[in-house]
Amino acid sequence: MLRAGPTGKLQSRNPDALRLGLFESDAVLSPLPDRLELSRPDDWHLHLRDGAMLERVVGATARVFARAIVMPNLDPPVATTAQAEDYAARISAVVPDGVAFTPLMTLYLTGETSPEEIARATASPVVHAVKLYPKGATTNSSAGVEGLDALAPVLEAMERHDLPLLVHGESTAPGDDVFDRERIFLEGTLAPLVERYEGLRVVFEHITTADAAAFVAESSSRVGATITPQHLLLNRNAIFEGGIRPHHYCLPILKREGDREALVAAATRGDPSFFLGTDSAPHARHTKEAPCGCAGIYSAPVAIESYAEVFAEEDALQRLEGFASHHGADFYRLPRNEERIVLLREDWQGPESEGEGPESVEVFWAGRTFRYRFGGFVR
Ligand code: DOR
Ligand code: ZN
Repeated sequence: MLRAGPTGKLQSRNPDALRLGLFESDAVLSPLPDRLELSRPDDWHLHLRDGAMLERVVGATARVFARAIVMPNLDPPVATTAQAEDYAARISAVVPDGVAFTPLMTLYLTGETSPEEIARATASPVVHAVKLYPKGATTNSSAGVEGLDALAPVLEAMERHDLPLLVHGESTAPGDDVFDRERIFLEGTLAPLVERYEGLRVVFEHITTADAAAFVAESSSRVGATITPQHLLLNRNAIFEGGIRPHHYCLPILKREGDREALVAAATRGDPSFFLGTDSAPHARHTKEAPCGCAGIYSAPVAIESYAEVFAEEDALQRLEGFASHHGADFYRLPRNEERIVLLREDWQGPESEGEGPESVEVFWAGRTFRYRFGGFVR
């Protein structure tokens, strides 16, 4: 457990967390285990892109994760079952040799999605969910939905076919404060949706606030949530640490320290409604370091290690496996992975970036020290 120090801040063993001002240094905490074994994890929220970027990033996820829920926000969007099947084939074609990785595909919900398409998606072995982007909320969301009323027949079909709805939960009215958009969406759209479609399984994706964590914890087991590494490790000060930090910009945007603490509590207490979803979202460096930089943080190369930091910080490493490897599979009604991985206690520096020049991609927590290293598979 983190403990409150004399100034009321939380104590930590990690110098990088200390540098960010989240924690204090004088903690005497129990030693960390040298070796952790867990079922191979899955990533329940991932952006793999397409073309050259796809080839670059897929290996970073497949090195650790057995499966991933792949977001459909390509341009044009992956809106039909046929497009999702093609995209799955393109992903599988670039998985490095000797690695087993299954992409779990999603459809992009648009004003054109039909109940028949939902039936086709359900019958397809590769499609596992439908993603709702409010129009204009984030990267490639211009084909997203403007209101849910017209989509009632589609949502009813999803309820009937038991196909989960994954939600980017942010309001989009231009006057809504960027830090309030998740709460406004939760109150005005998501809570009524969950109430109206009482059989629909819903994942509140990449939650960022104490309000969202409480809503999911209090909802029935048909409502789940993914939590990203950045929302567990950083608060909004990280966007402005000594200057503007485009590589800490993602959507939903980082929130207050109290929100971060609520997310950490939700992730680490063993509640099956919360599961790992990195939202790893690569953008070439020059598109982030720009006058109007893209939203998205590329965490795949250090993903499991980042979550291990959070659970180590909380003395909750014994609950990492549930969050990373069991809760999501159970929610999606897929078998848990039989393979097992090893994490080794060893200080190591994460990579700064992947690739060279302006097309390189900066990696989350660039160059910082992690205390667990991925140690391969248990043979
Ligand atoms: O920061 C984000 N990046 N949030 C999203 O919702 C989308 C993602 C992306 O695709 O780049
Ligand atoms: Zn995403």
